[in-house]
Amino acid sequence: MGELPEDTLEKMIKRAKSISKAAYAPYSKFPVGATVLTADGRMFDGCNVENASFGLTSCAERNAVSHMISQGRQQIVAVVIYTPTPKPASPCGACRQVINEFGPEALILSVCDGPDILKKKLSELLPEPFGPKNL
Ligand code: THU
Repeated sequence: MGELPEDTLEKMIKRAKSISKAAYAPYSKFPVGATVLTADGRMFDGCNVENASFGLTSCAERNAVSHMISQGRQQIVAVVIYTPTPKPASPCGACRQVINEFGPEALILSVCDGPDILKKKLSELLPEPFGPKNL
């Protein structure tokens, strides 16, 4: 499995935690932060944005991906997701699908308030994906 330099990972964790503070999560009270690393070494952050019409909520990961696209990048190397939990949480199915579009081999690292880090390749979290090549 690909590795990230320790300082890059630390920076991403810091950013994901920090952006979670901007989350709009009055209904779930579950703020999430995500930081995407692109092939050219840039980082883009996102937080979850809920809505009174609950189903319209956007997850932190998908908002980070939108942020990346808006800045002209399309190749995801890694994503760090922070949840305010004692154990790390894996990205939801919808976010796995969206990450697959831009980083089928991306490294997905989940961090939390405890010491554990969950580290998987997206291809492990989303085996046999439907993607651009299927069209
Ligand atoms: N959430 C994310 O932002 N990312 C995930 O991968 C899972 C869930 C958000 C959506 C909602 O605002 C809150 O967490 C509770 O589900």
